[in-house]
Amino acid sequence: MGKQAAGKLKKGTKGAASAGRRAARSSAPLSCMPCLLPIRAKVLKNEKENSLVSLLTLDLQMPDAMPGQFLMAWQPGMDEKPMSIAENKPSVRLAIAAVGPCSKKLAETKAGDCIYVRGPLGKPFWPAGKRWLLVGGGYGFAPLRFLARVGMENGAKVESICGARTKGLLMKAGPGKNHQTTDDGSAGTKGNVLSALEPLLRSGHFDCVYSCGPEKMMKAVAETAKKHGVKSQLSVERYMKCGFGVCGHCAMGGWLACIDGPSIDGNEALANPAFGAYHTDKAGRKIRY
Ligand SMILES: Cc1cc2nc3c(=O)[nH]c(=O)nc-3n(C[C@H](O)[C@H](O)[C@H](O)COP(=O)(O)OP(=O)(O)OC[C@H]3O[C@@H](n4cnc5c(N)ncnc54)[C@H](O)[C@@H]3O)c2cc1C
Ligand code: FES
Repeated sequence: MGKQAAGKLKKGTKGAASAGRRAARSSAPLSCMPCLLPIRAKVLKNEKENSLVSLLTLDLQMPDAMPGQFLMAWQPGMDEKPMSIAENKPSVRLAIAAVGPCSKKLAETKAGDCIYVRGPLGKPFWPAGKRWLLVGGGYGFAPLRFLARVGMENGAKVESICGARTKGLLMKAGPGKNHQTTDDGSAGTKGNVLSALEPLLRSGHFDCVYSCGPEKMMKAVAETAKKHGVKSQLSVERYMKCGFGVCGHCAMGGWLACIDGPSIDGNEALANPAFGAYHTDKAGRKIRY
C-alpha cells in the first residue's frame, strides 16, 4: 500500500467512510475514472493456497488499493466477476475459490496467461481503534490478511481467527497472532469461528472485529460482537455486474453493495432486512440464504 493509501487508512473513520460513499456516488465524469476500464494483467504466479483456493500474483501495481476493495476480473468468453484484493504488495494478488465456471477458469490460469481487471472498486475497511480481531471464513480470510498487514504497519495490534470446514480448506495464516477453527476438528479448535470468537471477546481486548466470509457466519460474528459491546465491520457479497453503482444489480435493502460496500458497519448490516436473508442471482431472482 502506498503512502497515500496508508494515510487514507490512518485518517479514515466511519464519517470518512460515509464521505467516501457520497464521493463514490457523486457525478464525476466516467472518463476521469481509469479504474473503470479493463486493463490487461499478466499472471506471474499461481500457487495453491488450499484444496479449493488458488492465489494468483499479477503483474499489476495498485499501490492505492486498500483492504476490503475488489477488482472485476474477466477472461474473454466468461462473465466478469468481483474478486477481493488479497494483497497489493509487491503486486496485486487474488485468492480464487474454484466453485463455478468463471472462478474455475481464473483458478486454472498459469504463469504468463493474461486476465483483464477493473478497479480498485468499492469501499475499503476503515480503522476503528488499535486492537483488531479479524474473523475469516474460507477465501474470505485473504482480504483480512491484507488488512492485517496494513493495520500492523500502521500500529494496530492484530489477532485473527481463520475458520474452515476441514483442515484442507484452511487458508494460510497472516501476520499477528493466528487462531484456527475447523468444523470437523481436523485442525485448531473444533467448531465454527464463534467457538474461538466468544472467549477472545470475553477477554475484552478488542476495539473492532473485522469479518469476511459466508454471510450467515458474518451475521453471527456481528451479533456476537454487538453482544460484547465491540464494533464490527463486514464485507458483503452480492451478484455484481457494473461494480460502480450504475446497474443496480447488487441492491440489498436500500444499499448498493458495490459502492455502499462491500465493507459495511456490522450494526448497520444487522438492521438491513436483506442481510443474512437473501441475495439475487444473475437474472435478479431472489435467493434465500
Ligand atoms: C465484493 C466481492 C468480492 C469477492 N471476492 C472473491 C474472492 O476474493 N475470491 C473468490 O473466489 N470469490 C470472490 N467473490 C465471489 C465471486 O465473485 C463469484 O461469485 C464466485 O467466484 C462464483 O462465480 P462463478 O461464475 O465461478 O460461479 P457461479 O456460476 O456464480 O456459481 C457456481 C456455483 O457455486 C456456488 N457458489 C457461488 N459462489 C460461491 C462461494 N463463494 N462459495 C461456495 N459456492 C459458491 C453457486 O451457488 C453455484 O451453485 C466475491 C464476490 C463479491 C461480490
Ligand atoms: S454492481 Fe452495478 S450497481 Fe452494484
